[in-house]
Amino acid sequence: MTATSLNWQLGVIAILAVILLRRFFRRKYGLDNLPGPVSPSWLTGNFLQLFNPYAWKFHESIAKTYGSAVRIHGPFGANGLYIFDSKAMHTVLVKNQDIFEENDGFLLTNLLLFGDGLLSTLGHRHRKQRKMLTPVFSSAHMRDMIPTFFEVTHKLENGLKSRLQSGGPQIQEVRRHSFLDGPHCFGADGASRPRILVRSSDNEESAHPYSRTIKELVTLTFAAMDTTSSAMARLLHLLSRHPEVQEKLRQEIIEAKRQKDGQDFSYDELVALPYLDAVCRETLRLYSPAPIVDRIARQDAVVPLLKPITGLDVVMVSIFNANKNPDLWGKDADEWKPERWLSPLPEALLEARIPGVYSHLMTFIGGGRSCIGFKFSQLEMKVVISVLVENFKFSPSARDSEILWQMNGVTAPIVGKDNHPQLPIGISLVD
Ligand code: HEM
Repeated sequence: MTATSLNWQLGVIAILAVILLRRFFRRKYGLDNLPGPVSPSWLTGNFLQLFNPYAWKFHESIAKTYGSAVRIHGPFGANGLYIFDSKAMHTVLVKNQDIFEENDGFLLTNLLLFGDGLLSTLGHRHRKQRKMLTPVFSSAHMRDMIPTFFEVTHKLENGLKSRLQSGGPQIQEVRRHSFLDGPHCFGADGASRPRILVRSSDNEESAHPYSRTIKELVTLTFAAMDTTSSAMARLLHLLSRHPEVQEKLRQEIIEAKRQKDGQDFSYDELVALPYLDAVCRETLRLYSPAPIVDRIARQDAVVPLLKPITGLDVVMVSIFNANKNPDLWGKDADEWKPERWLSPLPEALLEARIPGVYSHLMTFIGGGRSCIGFKFSQLEMKVVISVLVENFKFSPSARDSEILWQMNGVTAPIVGKDNHPQLPIGISLVD
């Protein structure tokens, strides 16, 4: 079991416990006027329909049938709200972030696994930790780190080349390693993992001079690995299925490298490549690695929909539906079209003021618990994809039609009935 699935399961158990304790003291208002699916069972409400690896269709259907604010039944008759309405998302994630917080199961699991790092604290302590960590993810620091990113990626490139040149298999299984699998991730070995320096200003820690730093590093590694490797695996899968996009991207990279006499890109050169940027954005839009985040209402608060709502126990923010809302993105919102990022974005989208930190998307959510590593993950994706696409061609494997992306806490590909994450893709050298 991966840490993310453990997180999800403990999260659901904790939601149940908190709901049971509190629901008797809540007054609900306006919820009954909100449309939503019927509850198939008082015991589980709609939770088993919402949280399972094949829940994509259910999420799509509730958005199509009921819109961007949906009444959901939680377990034991609890009051749930499912949203991708931009004002409601702003209230939950930004304005009233202290009220709508991570559930206790999520916090407790992270505390047990990683110590009291960023993923397991609340309120003042959490804000203090974020302040300490923010400089690590500044553009200036990203600029410094890019040679390390390239160094690691060239090791992967050389490893793949020598396997292909020695007549190794042309189908590589891109394994989406999980954090709990150990230090090997996407061809990178432990010794060459990116070095991150965190300056601790915390004098509460006395056991070991670096104990705070270590907790934060473990937390960051966990939050960074499954998410970014899921995004990169998805992007390679899409490129294998869209040879025209792959070729256009390759041409952009080859031409830019030619102008540099084959040297690695600097940070500014890499982020300025328009098609690479469009391909990454479109993948993170339509295939967000984390499809949903949930929050527990720690006290009563009003969510300002057409008719304001109070008395909530649990809120689910649908990243999946927010990023492909046809009212904002247009009729082709369901299609993977990198070109959409090369033209002006729809007016309706700009006016909606999506409360996400990145590019009108909810992929990295927004507010005080938004993804602190979103720039880091962009850079990592761009370095790896630019090196791979320049040197290798990707094509669908014979088992392509059996690939299924599961809707876990972090999405993962499986093949057929084998639940082990794997992604077979054909790979050959660019001539
Ligand atoms: C494509 C890659 C990534 C995606 C889609 C992603 C997405 C997210 C999302 C949705 C959250 C909010 C979780 C919640 O509220 O329950 C989050 C939080 C977080 N992410 Fe990421 N993430 C990615 C990569 C990274 C990377 C590379 C790092 C670090 C190097 C990172 C570090 C974190 C941390 C520490 C948090 C917790 C922030 C807090 O509670 O203040 N993530 N991420």
